[in-house]
Amino acid sequence: MKKKSCSLLLVVCVFMLGLTAVSWSADYVGSAKCFKCHKNQYNDFRTSGHPYKLQKAEIAKSWPLPLPKGYTWRDISYVIGGAYKKARYMNKQGYIITASRSGRELKTQYNLETGTWSFYHKGEKKPYDCGRCHTTGFSEEGHQDGLEGIKGTWAFPGVQCEACHGPGSDHLKDYRKFKPVVDRTSARCGKCHIRGSRDKIPASGNFIKHHEQYNELLASPHKELGCVECHNPHKKAEFSIKKECASCHKKQAAAFKGHVMAQVGVKCIDCHMPRATKSAVKKAEYEGDIRSHVFKINLDSSAKMFYTEEKDGKKLKFARGFVTVEYACLNCHKNKDKEWAAAQGKTIHKTKTKK
Ligand code: HEC
Ligand code: HEC
Ligand code: HEC
Ligand code: HEC
Ligand code: HEC
Ligand code: HEC
Ligand code: HEC
Ligand code: HEC
Repeated sequence: MKKKSCSLLLVVCVFMLGLTAVSWSADYVGSAKCFKCHKNQYNDFRTSGHPYKLQKAEIAKSWPLPLPKGYTWRDISYVIGGAYKKARYMNKQGYIITASRSGRELKTQYNLETGTWSFYHKGEKKPYDCGRCHTTGFSEEGHQDGLEGIKGTWAFPGVQCEACHGPGSDHLKDYRKFKPVVDRTSARCGKCHIRGSRDKIPASGNFIKHHEQYNELLASPHKELGCVECHNPHKKAEFSIKKECASCHKKQAAAFKGHVMAQVGVKCIDCHMPRATKSAVKKAEYEGDIRSHVFKINLDSSAKMFYTEEKDGKKLKFARGFVTVEYACLNCHKNKDKEWAAAQGKTIHKTKTKK
């Protein structure tokens, strides 16, 4: 009996070794190789932000992007971002540019929506240690292209198909035998759409910090939903929504239909997902440039959206799992106050039923 279970274990072990050997042997091949058989996903993906997260200067120089004052494309190795909200630039040693060529003070972050420049880690020597969220096939070891400022190496810059689906060389050889990873959990997206730990929402100034949609979602009433229940992961955010709010919240949607705001085109997300998050620029005191994912609106006019905690003598700021009326209402109703908004807010889904 004992012997039998031993040999069974051995068979299992050998089998598992075989499996890992298969996944070890797979290499990253690049998104272009997927086009032939997955044209729709590929074409959608090329118009989304993911592939452009990090790009070699040779390619990025054809984009409509200006360079920090005094720099030419000969000084640049990579562009970081530049497709969505903001661009930062890496020099030929692999450091992120934080000053002028001669080391003087200079704004080196370009903000796409406003065409303005901001300081970024003014004057610091800033290595590029961002590869685990911006590249495909990342490894902590070594320096990409031999550039000392870059921490780690990658197979391809940007968030390519294989950043989500795993290395694809075996699938290319035999797509029937080797299926790529298809992980629909928000934890998978949350590997990159996170900041700090899962249980807090880091904030700064009047805003939630950017790239923490996963932290926010976990603090929201939608913590059970996968990102891809709402988003098609291949598409740009605005065009990616495959399930509207109304399809799950029929009662609130029906009640809102009668409101004057519905008639003038105010949408669910205008109130429930206001731009309470900031990546590149703030547009007003309570308006950043990225939609929040906490969904819940707190109608108490004295509610505080943020709190601070002290750690190692440093004050850290975090957001709670709701937005207040400054964000949800007053960016549009600029001549009204919190008390007005809090009182009027109760009437928006008038036919509200008790759960
Ligand atoms: C030669 C054609 C071909 C190429 C090239 C190809 N695929 Fe596929 N792929 C297929 C086919 C066919 C299926 C459907 C297989 C099935 O359902 O049996 C598939 C399925 C998939 C699936 C869904 C798997 C599932 O379980 O639902 C993903 C994801 C995928 N491919 C990703 C990729 C990626 C990423 C690349 C590029 C690295 C790629 N494919 C390149 C033919 C191809
Ligand atoms: C490997 C890291 C990584 C993973 C995994 C990842 N993302 Fe992203 N995501 C990024 C980065 C970096 C950006 C910014 C890209 C840019 O420059 O526009 C981004 C941008 C986005 C955007 C906004 C840009 C646009 O195209 O509109 C959406 C929406 C998004 N991701 C959704 C998802 C979803 C859903 C998943 C999981 C299925 C996911 N992401 C997984 C890193 C990642
Ligand atoms: C940000 C992560 C991410 C990236 C990048 C990504 N995918 Fe996907 N892909 C997913 C997820 C998650 C699903 C499952 C979606 C669902 O079921 O709603 C999926 C589904 C698929 C499927 C199954 C059919 C479908 O459309 O649901 C194919 C095929 C596929 N992806 C191919 C690709 C190819 C090819 C690329 C690059 C051109 C790519 N994916 C890039 C996350 C990603
Ligand atoms: C934990 C993963 C993660 C790390 C680490 C990270 N980022 Fe990002 N970054 C993201 C995601 C996700 C987005 C897009 C979503 C958002 O901004 O809310 C993004 C967006 C950006 C953008 C805007 C892209 C665009 O096209 O507008 C820039 C620029 C950027 N990051 C630079 C950096 C730099 C520089 C570092 C390192 C010092 C860094 N990031 C580290 C995940 C990360
Ligand atoms: C796939 C279905 C689904 C979609 C799509 C969806 N929700 Fe929800 N929503 C839920 C579930 C499930 C809950 C938690 C159960 C509950 O409280 O009703 C919830 C809860 C909420 C709550 C809190 C309810 C409360 O009682 O406090 C708000 C607010 C909300 N959703 C707004 C939205 C908005 C706005 C959208 C669109 C951006 C949206 N939801 C899209 C399923 C969904
Ligand atoms: C003009 C701003 C605004 C718009 C637009 C709006 N809501 Fe709301 N919604 C609110 C406020 C404020 C509350 C909180 C009510 C309370 O706490 O009494 C709320 C509450 C909710 C809740 C929680 C349950 C409840 O009834 O309290 C859900 C779910 C919801 N809204 C879904 C939606 C959906 C779906 C849409 C789009 C069809 C939408 N909302 C459009 C402001 C808005
Ligand atoms: C309940 C539905 C829902 C869920 C769940 C959800 N999102 Fe979203 N997300 C939206 C909607 C709606 C938008 C706004 C789209 C638009 O601009 O019209 C959005 C926008 C975004 C944006 C762009 C924000 C901006 O303003 O630039 C990013 C990035 C994003 N989502 C990532 C994620 C990630 C990552 C997850 C999972 C951790 C996730 N989302 C979960 C509904 C959802
Ligand atoms: C995207 C912009 C936008 C947001 C966000 C918004 N509103 Fe409105 N609201 C409007 C517009 C536009 C009208 C129509 C003005 C008109 O023609 O009378 C309106 C009308 C109203 C009215 C009826 C007219 C009045 O002045 O008495 C009320 C009440 C109201 N909003 C309350 C709110 C509350 C409460 C919130 C937040 C929970 C909110 N709104 C969020 C744009 C917005």
